[in-house]
Amino acid sequence: MENQKGHNLVFYVNGEKITESQPDPTCTLLYYLRKTLTLTGTKSVCGEGGCGACTVMISKYDDKNNTIRHYSVNACLTPICSVHGLAVTTTEGIGSLRTRLHPVQEQIAKSHGSQCGFCTPGMVMSMYTLLRNNPQPTMLQIEKYLEGNLCRCTGYRPILDGYRIFSKDACGMGENCCQNKSQNDNKTDKNTNVYTSPYDPTQEPIFPPDLKINFGEYNKKALMFETNLVKWYRPVTLTDLLDLKEEYPDSKIIIGNTEVGIETRFKNMKYPVLINASHVPELTDINFTEDGIKFGASVTLSKVDEVLEKTKEDLPEEKTRVFTAVIEMLKWFSSKQIRNTASIGGNIMTASPISDLNPIFQASSAKLEVVSKGSKIKEVLMDKDFFQSYRQTIISASDVLLSVTIPFSRKNEYFESFKQALRKDDDIAIVNAGMRVVFENESDIIKELYLSYGGMAATTVMAKTTMQKLVGRKWDNNLVQVACQTLEGDLPLKADAPGGAIEYRRTLTTSFFFKFYLTVAQQLYNKEIIHGTPIPRSHLSAIETPELGPSTGSQVYELVSAAQKDDNPIGRPIVHTSAYQQTTGEAVYIDDMLPLKGELFIAPVYSSKARATLLNIDTSASLEIQGVIGYIDHSDIKGVNYLEVIEEQFLAVDEVTCEGCLIGGIVATSSEIAREASKYVKIEYQDLPAIITIEDAINNNSYLNKSPVYITGNIEKGFEECEEILEGEIHIGAQEHFCLETQTAIVVPKERDEIDVYTASQRITFTQDSVADVLGVSKNKVKCFVKRLGGGFGGKETQSGHVAALAAMAATKYNKPVRMVLERDDDMIMTGTRHPFLGKYKVGFSRDGRITCLDLNLYANCGNSLDMSAAMLQDAMKKCDNCYKIPNFRVTGHLCKTNIRSNTAFRGFGTVQGMFVIESIMQHIIDDNRLDPVKVRELNFYRDGDRTHYNQIITECNINSCWEECLKQSDYYTRKSKVEEFNRINRWRKRGLAIIPLKYGIAFGLKMLNQAGALINIYTDGSVLLAHGGVEMGQGLHTKMMQVASATLGIPVDKIHIDETGTNTVPNTSATAASTGSDLNGMAVKIACEKINKRLEPYKNEKGSTWNDWVLKAYSDRISLSATGFYKSPGLGHDPDTDSDNSFFYYSYGASCSEVEIDCLTGDHSVLRTDIVMDVGSSLNPAIDIGQIEGAFIQGYGLYMLEDYKVSPSGNLITKGPGNYKIPSVGNIPRQFNVSLLKDTPNTKAVYSSKAIGEPPLLLSISVFMATKSAIMAARHETGRRGYFRLDSPATADCIRMACQDEFTKQFPLAEEGTSSPWSVRL
Ligand SMILES: Cc1cc2nc3c(=O)[nH]c(=O)nc-3n(C[C@H](O)[C@H](O)[C@H](O)COP(=O)(O)OP(=O)(O)OC[C@H]3O[C@@H](n4cnc5c(N)ncnc54)[C@H](O)[C@@H]3O)c2cc1C
Ligand code: FES
Ligand code: FES
Repeated sequence: MENQKGHNLVFYVNGEKITESQPDPTCTLLYYLRKTLTLTGTKSVCGEGGCGACTVMISKYDDKNNTIRHYSVNACLTPICSVHGLAVTTTEGIGSLRTRLHPVQEQIAKSHGSQCGFCTPGMVMSMYTLLRNNPQPTMLQIEKYLEGNLCRCTGYRPILDGYRIFSKDACGMGENCCQNKSQNDNKTDKNTNVYTSPYDPTQEPIFPPDLKINFGEYNKKALMFETNLVKWYRPVTLTDLLDLKEEYPDSKIIIGNTEVGIETRFKNMKYPVLINASHVPELTDINFTEDGIKFGASVTLSKVDEVLEKTKEDLPEEKTRVFTAVIEMLKWFSSKQIRNTASIGGNIMTASPISDLNPIFQASSAKLEVVSKGSKIKEVLMDKDFFQSYRQTIISASDVLLSVTIPFSRKNEYFESFKQALRKDDDIAIVNAGMRVVFENESDIIKELYLSYGGMAATTVMAKTTMQKLVGRKWDNNLVQVACQTLEGDLPLKADAPGGAIEYRRTLTTSFFFKFYLTVAQQLYNKEIIHGTPIPRSHLSAIETPELGPSTGSQVYELVSAAQKDDNPIGRPIVHTSAYQQTTGEAVYIDDMLPLKGELFIAPVYSSKARATLLNIDTSASLEIQGVIGYIDHSDIKGVNYLEVIEEQFLAVDEVTCEGCLIGGIVATSSEIAREASKYVKIEYQDLPAIITIEDAINNNSYLNKSPVYITGNIEKGFEECEEILEGEIHIGAQEHFCLETQTAIVVPKERDEIDVYTASQRITFTQDSVADVLGVSKNKVKCFVKRLGGGFGGKETQSGHVAALAAMAATKYNKPVRMVLERDDDMIMTGTRHPFLGKYKVGFSRDGRITCLDLNLYANCGNSLDMSAAMLQDAMKKCDNCYKIPNFRVTGHLCKTNIRSNTAFRGFGTVQGMFVIESIMQHIIDDNRLDPVKVRELNFYRDGDRTHYNQIITECNINSCWEECLKQSDYYTRKSKVEEFNRINRWRKRGLAIIPLKYGIAFGLKMLNQAGALINIYTDGSVLLAHGGVEMGQGLHTKMMQVASATLGIPVDKIHIDETGTNTVPNTSATAASTGSDLNGMAVKIACEKINKRLEPYKNEKGSTWNDWVLKAYSDRISLSATGFYKSPGLGHDPDTDSDNSFFYYSYGASCSEVEIDCLTGDHSVLRTDIVMDVGSSLNPAIDIGQIEGAFIQGYGLYMLEDYKVSPSGNLITKGPGNYKIPSVGNIPRQFNVSLLKDTPNTKAVYSSKAIGEPPLLLSISVFMATKSAIMAARHETGRRGYFRLDSPATADCIRMACQDEFTKQFPLAEEGTSSPWSVRL
C-alpha cells in the first residue's frame, strides 16, 4: 500500500478536471467547493447531513452494467478524498444567468419557490438528480426525493407546484393546467408566468469520458493520501484492507462517512488513520444465496432498497416479508442523500441504539460474515447477544464486517417493522422495532417469537422474557394482555434516561406489539388459519395506514383590472427579483463574498454553564496551534462592554449567566483552525445556582422589569355577574428561528476609525450601534451593508449585533478583514429563540359561551437579559384578545429572568403566544360545556365600533368576511359530519376539524419605530437606483418596493435596481420587522418617487417624449435627480377626538380551517387539508403574499406541532441542529392546501391599498393544533373521557399519544412533575 503514496486525487467538477496532489483527508467536498473552487452556490448550513442545502450530484461509471449512475449527496459529509474518479455537478454546472438557465432552476424561480434562496441550490440539485435518473417521476417520487431538503421560508408548496411540470402527474394542459397556476377570478394576467419548456435529458452535459476510459486507473488502484495529522487509505483488495487493519489496529473504516463524519465534527473524535473500504469487491458484491440476499458491507442503502424492491417483484410474498420490512423502514430512514452514501455495514457496526435496521436484522436473525487478518471468515448471527453495550457488538475492533445476509421468510413466518419519530420524513427513531413470529405448521400456535426494539436501552434489545413466555401460546386476543405485562419488565427505562419521553416510549413498545398482533391476526384470518369473529372493522384502523398521495392545492386571488396599464406592476404576481440568481448560485450572501487579502476568521468562545463565576481562562493550548493569531475578550474593548438597546453586557467579565454567554473569540487564518482552536480554550468555572424555567423564576421571584397590566371594565364585578367560571393554565414552548444562513459578518477596517461591516442583519442600525459602542467610535465611521439574508424571522434583529461587534474588535485589533460565520450548533446555543410562555387564567362566561370576564397572567421566559422582551410582552398582552370582545379584562405580563440565552424577536412576536392562550381558553369553555366551536367563536367576535382592552376602536373589521368565506371554502359543515362518521367507525385513527379566526394589529409597539426612509437616484440613461431602509430576507420586499417605484414613476420595473441596504444611504432605519416592511418603506419610496415626478412634470408635456428624454432634459436644466422619501405612520397614539388609544395603524384579518388525522397508538399525525382566507387589502404582489401566507403557516405549524426545543435541567441546550431539532419538511405540509385572498377589501391606510403580510398568517396554524386536539378528544371518548383536557404546545407525537389515554397508556401513567429528575425540562 505504501507505494501508492504520491498518487493525485483526481475528480471532475462541472466538467472541469481537478487534480490535487496533497488533499487533506479531513476536508469535505463542501469546504473544497466553497473555499478552494469558490463555487459558493452550494450552501453550508448544518454540516451534519440534516438540511440538504449542500446537495450536489455525483456521477459514477458502472463498469459492470456500462451505465452512468447519478446520485445526490450531502457535500458536507462527503470527504474530498472519496470523490476520486467521480464527477461532481453543482448548481453552477447546470445553468447560469450568463449562459442559460436549466429548466429545473428556471421553474423553481418562476413558481415563486425561492424566497430567501438559501435552500434553493440544494433543492435544484436534488430535483436535477432525480430527473437525470427518472425524466418523468410521479409527484410522490418528487416529494420523497426532496424530503432531505429543508426550506424555512416557502412552506414547500410553490416548489412542488413548480416541479409538477416535470412529473408524470402533470396534465396535458401544460401552462394552463389548473395545478400549475393559481386560480384567479379574472381571465388571464398579462404578466402571468410563462412555463418552462419540458425537460430534455439529451441536452445534459456528458459524463467526462476520461472517467469512463480510464475507469481501471481510477477505481482499481489503491490510494493513499496523508497530511501530518491524518492518513487516508483506499485499498482495492480484501488482503490490503486486512493488512491495513492489522498494521493500524486503531484505524477507522469509513464508507459513507455519515456516522464517522458526525463523530469527528461534533464529538471531537480524532481518527489518525481512515480506511475507505468502498472499493473492495468482497464488500460491494451482492449475491443471492439459499438463505437470502447477501449484501457486501459497503453496499449503500439506496442499492439495498433497489435490489430488495426488484427481488420482491419476482418472488412469492411469503418469501419476502423481511425484505418488505426493510423496504418499509428505508422509506423513513433519513434522506435520499444519506441513503445514497450510507452503507448497510456502517449501520450495523455503528451499533446505535436507535439504528433503524438493527432491530429488523436482529429479529430476523440476519447472518453476518466477519474476517480479520490470518483468520478464516466467521459467520456471526445477529441474535440476542449480538449487541454487548453502548455502540459495542460482539464483533471485535480488529474484525472487518464482510457481508450481511437478509434472510428470506418462510411460509409460516410473519414479519413487521415499526418506527416512530418526531417528524415523519428524515428523522431518527424515538422507538423502532422488528418483530417476527413463526407458527407451528399451518396453525396459530407460536413456535418462535422475536421482538427486537430500538430506542429502549443503550443498545438494540430483544424482549427476551416476552419472547419465551409467548412461545406455545395461541395467537389470540389474550396474547396482547400477556405481552404487555412482560414487555414492561423486558424494557424498563429510568426516569432520567437519555431521550426523555419515558412513558411514551414505554407505551410505544406495547402499542407496536398490538399493531403486530392485529396485522398477523388479520393475515391468519384471511388464510382461514384463525376462525371465528374477524377483527372488528374499527380495530383495523390500528394497522391501516392509508397512502395519502401527493400534496395538492389552489391559490386564489384577484387579477388586476383590465384598465390597469400593462407596465403598471402593482397587483401582479411578479417573480422575486433575485430568484433567478438564487437558483443558479450566483446570488451572493455574506459568506459567499470572496475572501479579502489577509482575511482572518474568528470563532466564538462562550460559556458551557448556565450560571457560574469565571475563575480562569487558559488559552495557551489554543494559541500554540499553527495558524492561530490570537484571542480577544472584554479587555480588548475600547468602547463600552454594553449593548444599550437590549440592555445586555456584551462580553462576560467575571460571571456567565447562560450557556452560550459570549466570553471572547479565537482569531486564526482559517475558519477551521479558529473553530478547532476554540475547543482548546480551558475555562474554569465555579457553579452558581441557576434559574431555568418559568416555574423556577416564579418560585424565586426572578423578573426583569415591573409587570405591566392592561385593564378594561370591572373584573371583580364581571366575575360576580357571570354564569360560569373556569380556571386553568397553558404552556407554549420555545421555537428556534433556524434561518438557513447562520449569524454572519465580515468586517473590514479602513482608514483611521472607519470600518465597513457586511452584516447578516435585519436591523443594520442596531449592528451599527453595537459596533460603534464596542469600538468606541462615532456612528458616522461605521458603515453597515446587507444585500440579502438567508432568512431572518426576527432572529437577526438584535442577535446579529454580537457577531458583528466581536468581528469588529478583531478587525481593529489586528487591522485585517475578519470574517465570522457561526456554525449551526454555535448559532443555536448562542442565540435566543421565541419566548416560551405560561398562561394562567380565570375566565367568566355565559352558558352559551360568551366571555364576560377574563383575568389573565402571561409569564414569558426571557432568559438572561431584556433584549426585546418588554416589547414582545406588550404585543402578547395587546393581541391576546384575538378577535374577541372581552368586556371585563385584565391581563398582567411577567418578564421572567432566567439563565438561558436571552430570548428575542420571532415572527409573530408575542402574538403567537398570546393568541394561543386565548384560543386555548376558548377551547376550554367549548370542551367543558360541549358547545359548538364555530358558534361560540362567532358569539365573541368584535364588531365595528367596539373598543379593545387597550382602548383602540375597531374599524373596517373584516373578521366576518374571512370567517364566512373560510367556512364556505372549506365546506366546513359537510366535512364536520364526515369527520364524525370517520371517528365513529375507526377506533385507532381519529380525525379532527377546526376553524380559527385571526385579527392582527400592524405597527411597531414603540411609536418612534414607525418611520422609514428611501433614497432614489436617477442616472442620465434613465436607470433608477433605489435604496430604502428595509432588508431583503426572502419576503420579497425589494420586489414590492420596485413595483411601488415603477407604478409611481410610471416606468417599467426593469429600469429599477436595488443594490443593497446600507446605513450610508438611508440612516437610522427601524428593523425590518413587525410586518411593517412594505407599509413603511413602501410609503417612503412612493414619497421619494412623487418628488421626482414633480420635478419631471414640466418635461412630460412634450408629445412623444419618453422617460429617458425627461431625465436628460432635467439633468441639462440642473434639476436634482436624487430624492429622499420619509414616512411616519399617522394617527398612532392617543386620539383626543374619540378618546381612544391607537396602538395599531390598522388590523389584518384571516381565517383558517384544518383537518388532521392522528394515529392514536403512536401519536403520528397528518394534516389532510387546510383552507386559508386572508385579508391582504389589495395585494401589491399576490404571488409574494401567498408565498408569505404558506411559508408563515408552515412555520407556525412547526411551532405548534413539531419543534421540540429541549434544554437539560442544568440549562444546556440538547437540540443543537437539524438532527434533533425538527422543522417541518416537505412531507408535513397539508395534503390539500388552499389559499385565497379576500376579495374587494382595499386598505385605505397603506401603500397602494395593500396590507402587511409577513407575520399574521403564522397564527392561522393554530387551526392544525385545535384540529389535533379535537381528534384526541374523539379518541378519549372511546374510553369514556369527556370534557376538557389540557394540551400544551407543541403537540408532538408523544403528547398526542399520551393524551389519547387508553389501556396501553394506563400501564405507564405520566410521572408527576417534580417526582424525579427528568432528562429535559419544560422552559
Ligand atoms: C443526517 C443523518 C441521518 C441519519 N438517519 C438515520 C436513520 O434514520 N436511521 C438510522 O438507523 N441511521 C441514521 N443515520 C446514521 C447513519 O447514516 C447510518 O448508521 C449509516 O448506515 C452509516 O453508514 P456509513 O456508511 O455512512 O457509515 P460510516 O460513517 O462510514 O461508518 C460507520 C461505522 O461503521 C464502521 N464500519 C463501516 N464499515 C465497516 C466494516 N465493513 N467493518 C467494520 N466496521 C465498519 C466504521 O468504522 C464506523 O465506525 C443518520 C445519519 C445522518 C448523518
Ligand atoms: S449543510 Fe450539508 S446537509 Fe446541511
Ligand atoms: S427559500 Fe427556502 S430557506 Fe429560504
